[in-house]
Amino acid sequence: MEVEIVGRMLSTLPEDDDHPYRTGPWQPQTTEWAADDLVVSGDLPEDLDGVYLRNTENPLHPAIGRYHPFEGDGMVHLVGFRDGQAFYRNRFVRTDALLAEQEAGESLWVGLAERPDKAKRRDGWGARGHLKDSSSTDVVVHNGQVLSSFYECGDLYALDPVTLEPRGKADWHGDFPRDRGVSAHPQVDEHTGEMLFFNYNARAPYLNYGVVDDADRLVHYVPIDLPGPRLPHDMTFTENYAILNDLPMVWDAKLMERGAYLARFHRDLPTRLGVIPRRGAADEIRWFDFDPTYVLHWTNAWEEGDEIVVEGFFQHDPEPSVAPDASYYERMSRFISLDGFQSRLHRWRMNLATGACSEESLTDSITEFGMINAQHGGRPHRYTYAATGVPGRFLFNGLTRHDSATGDEVHYALPDGVFGSETSVAPRPGATAEDDAYLVTMVTDMNTDSSSALVFHAADIAAGPIATVALPERVSSGTHSTWADGSRIPGWSDLDPLGAGATI
Ligand SMILES: [Fe+2]
Repeated sequence: MEVEIVGRMLSTLPEDDDHPYRTGPWQPQTTEWAADDLVVSGDLPEDLDGVYLRNTENPLHPAIGRYHPFEGDGMVHLVGFRDGQAFYRNRFVRTDALLAEQEAGESLWVGLAERPDKAKRRDGWGARGHLKDSSSTDVVVHNGQVLSSFYECGDLYALDPVTLEPRGKADWHGDFPRDRGVSAHPQVDEHTGEMLFFNYNARAPYLNYGVVDDADRLVHYVPIDLPGPRLPHDMTFTENYAILNDLPMVWDAKLMERGAYLARFHRDLPTRLGVIPRRGAADEIRWFDFDPTYVLHWTNAWEEGDEIVVEGFFQHDPEPSVAPDASYYERMSRFISLDGFQSRLHRWRMNLATGACSEESLTDSITEFGMINAQHGGRPHRYTYAATGVPGRFLFNGLTRHDSATGDEVHYALPDGVFGSETSVAPRPGATAEDDAYLVTMVTDMNTDSSSALVFHAADIAAGPIATVALPERVSSGTHSTWADGSRIPGWSDLDPLGAGATI
């Protein structure tokens, strides 16, 4: 392995930090690495060709007040695969907020667990305003650039898809909606090259929906009428429609009047799914009512005749009960652990001709953070690969493959003390079968104080990883990831796998 340290950031976190989401598997890094010719155990497939990217909440300063694990500074990890070899890069996302806090040597904004009026800066980002845009939530590849995003709507920060060098903010030829930003999970349709997105806000319009084309132009942007402010986290799409949502998890209106933001689940309100033509006008959206739940992530949607089928994770207890004497951190952990909100894979059906709708749970297994072969995005898919969670913690301890054709599930449990990430699907070049693909994830191993990328055969996860790729240091646990084939990366064919950073 050839390793170079290419950067370090100032951290003012104390040596004896005891925060449960800044220590142990969540201990943040300060170092930026460039490592080539990574050491591989097992057989790294010659035809695994592209990059696995994962974003990470990686805090650098003690929070003002309470820290929530969704708000650390963004750090993107990249593991590139080419000709049976692998390289690694990691870079902080150099957001406006990160640079300001590096200059100040302390936190300037509060997170979602604190009142906005406690912030040292009066400006900020996010659906409620006054938040720090940490760009640490998701990562996608659109038009040959890596884009990192912020869970409560912010800028999209662009990075080079091989070196992770910063490439500024997405601008869309001057049309990026700076006043409202883009939410956590913009959706890239690999068939059209379009990116679909929404933003939401405490002020009307409470939701906007938009489309960016394959030339980076904002070609569609419409306000969506909602009864009040909502907290949508994700959306999905079919070949012809975008699927938006109005879920009964909303900010407490009375507290909002006093400048505080607390999400409450309303069991007496329906889940509403909104179906709008991908370039549809605001009044073309059609809403369908379902059982109340909160859905953090959808996996996919597609059309079957007049029906729209949507798949995602139905939370059977979106507002889990906690002991009256629970500490803030115990309460917070319960709200973000998979066994707390009890998310199960679920399908919703809406008939555009008759207006009929139905829904069904696909499994008893509790999973979330499901990924599919993205070539099936907007079209029918059979397999969903999702994470299992450590009880009571926001940590992944394994992987489940759901087969929706047979109902079969296969689990792979990571060893005790090893924690995974969202697992991305890398289709084999020229593959015709949906699961003729590799799976890639990144793990944090507390037993060996190390991290690695794991590669599985998508069709046989029970066999365990076929290759383990060592990274230069243990990286913090993290969640959202994506896969980009080399064919989607400009200049990839000229890349020297052993000197990736030097040649681009
Ligand atoms: Fe998410």
